[in-house]
Amino acid sequence: MSMQPLSSDGILRLGAAFRSSKVLLSAVELGIFTALAGGPLDLETLRERVGIDTRGARDFLDSLVALGMLTRQADERYANAADTDLYLDRNKPSYVGGFLENAITRSYATWGSLTAALRTGKPQDDLSMVTNYSGLYANDTLRDAFVNAMTALSRPAAKAIAKKFPWQNYRSLIDIGGAQGCLPVEIAKVHRHISGGVFDLSPLQPSFDRLVKDHRLADRLRFYPGDFFNGPLPGADVLVLGRVLHNWNLTTKQMLLKKAYDALPPGGSIIVYEQLIDDERRVNIDGLLASLQMLLSGPGGFNFTGAECISWMRETGFRDIHLEPLTADQSMVVGTKHAN
Ligand SMILES: C[S@@+](CC[C@H](N)C(=O)[O-])C[C@H]1O[C@@H](n2cnc3c(N)ncnc32)[C@H](O)[C@@H]1O
Repeated sequence: MSMQPLSSDGILRLGAAFRSSKVLLSAVELGIFTALAGGPLDLETLRERVGIDTRGARDFLDSLVALGMLTRQADERYANAADTDLYLDRNKPSYVGGFLENAITRSYATWGSLTAALRTGKPQDDLSMVTNYSGLYANDTLRDAFVNAMTALSRPAAKAIAKKFPWQNYRSLIDIGGAQGCLPVEIAKVHRHISGGVFDLSPLQPSFDRLVKDHRLADRLRFYPGDFFNGPLPGADVLVLGRVLHNWNLTTKQMLLKKAYDALPPGGSIIVYEQLIDDERRVNIDGLLASLQMLLSGPGGFNFTGAECISWMRETGFRDIHLEPLTADQSMVVGTKHAN
């Protein structure tokens, strides 16, 4: 693939792109889109509603207009753009700001230390994989922000998996490291014969129970508390490893695939979904940045290509392995355990 040459403008714009990003993150933090969900507001009313000073308010809001996040009407009142109204109003079920809230509380500062991570090879955030999540989950606010971020990122993939996987051939599903349970909820909503749940660390059980109750699925979905470093995984017809393998080094990735293989019945299937890097490692910037996020967050994690995932699954014993795109940036690799 040939890349367009960058002009000096393009280079400088990329170097300063964090400023636009921070304008959006501050807008989410201040609740601008939620404040405008009830209808357009003039500058003064909006400024007071979200609690910002007069100095900067106009430039900030007009920056959001220029970024396409807000519109300013002929009467000068500000309004949400159609997509920000749908995705960034906290009171709508389609809200994806959980991911951005996690960026506000953690990633923005951690990415500031990227150079240090590159020089040392050491993580710059001691709250997640470094402590096997115990540091992160000890703080209710950080834990909830993380879990909401996971749900925001995985919901589009979960909806696609509900459509693209042949659920009619299976009866049960357990999402290993499934966090709040967004994936089993999306599957169970569409496929009424499916039961199962999430296997994850016990501090996530209350948020799982809440989501499952909200969707009235407690009769079919339950939480399996556990630590995948200790003991076997629970069995089901389908096991999912969604954006879990990227957290760990190669030995742990292989250990998790092997534990999943052992827990599946013959004929059972595994679904691995991730922001996979393209096999040539040239194009998919989201997958590559996700890998750098792992450098910042833990001691051994890295993201990988579809070809790498397929080869690890084949070595584990899985057969009929195939890759299927799910969303613009996420894909699943599916494999089956054959009877010996
Ligand atoms: C990056 S998140 C992915 C969450 C979800 N699968 C998704 O795609 O949104 C990794 C998940 O692995 C879980 N996890 C981490 N260490 C674990 C362990 N030792 N045992 C079980 N689950 C673990 C975390 O709690 C978290 O929910």
